[in-house]
Amino acid sequence: MIKDIRNIVMLTGAGISAESGLATFRGPDGLWEGHRVEDVCTPEALARHAELVHRFYDERRAKLAEVHPNAAHEALAALDRAWDGDLLIVTQNVDDLHERAGARRLLHMHGELRSALCADCGKAVAWADPLPPQSVCGGCARPSLRPDIVFFGEMPYEMDRIDAALRDADLFVSIGTSGAVYPAAGFVQTARHVGARTLELNLDPSAGSFYFEESRMGPASKLVPELVRELLG
Ligand code: APR
Repeated sequence: MIKDIRNIVMLTGAGISAESGLATFRGPDGLWEGHRVEDVCTPEALARHAELVHRFYDERRAKLAEVHPNAAHEALAALDRAWDGDLLIVTQNVDDLHERAGARRLLHMHGELRSALCADCGKAVAWADPLPPQSVCGGCARPSLRPDIVFFGEMPYEMDRIDAALRDADLFVSIGTSGAVYPAAGFVQTARHVGARTLELNLDPSAGSFYFEESRMGPASKLVPELVRELLG
């Protein structure tokens, strides 16, 4: 599975941060921190209930101060430092645990909690504090800052860069994601199409498990360091 690999794409989801103490999106009760995803993660929700949506992401942002990267984030950061070939870590997560572990070849396809986005001019700015509705954009001076989160129905970030990396990949690894949300859930098919090997690391088989050549089941904090040791020989 991991012989003769040069170019790698790693896709991560909420499962990689679960052992750091951050709730996954689709828990046993189907709720994300007590909310239906569509009540806090759609443009309609933001338009109708801005207070609720902003408060929800304020709470998630504040929670980041209480959590730390775990062994899985650390292992991917170590791979990033040591790997000579191409590597792209594509995370669906809006937390900052990959970068706090030291990963650099990383992109956040679903946005970031510690960023605010102007709904008018599109400028994004680093944001560590609570973000009340009507906060003013430093770029265009309109009261249009919103959480920099890609809501359902919006286009994820950097799809061209992800697609290019997938097309060059020899190995595609999916870590801690349920495979319920497209386009990320379809990356495995692109990778297969170009002849990359495909590996899933997850606690339970994901919705698209059968697309992967190999699936390893267990906690990310164990499986990811094991894989990185294999890759680095
Ligand atoms: N180690 C590995 N996998 C784990 C662990 C763990 N310790 N704990 C949970 N998991 C797995 C679960 O089995 C599940 O398959 O992580 C997956 C988490 O799935 P989701 O909660 O659906 O999260 P994710 O796939 O990242 O969601 C995708 O959906 O709501 C949107 O935009 C949001 O980015 C998010 C997207």
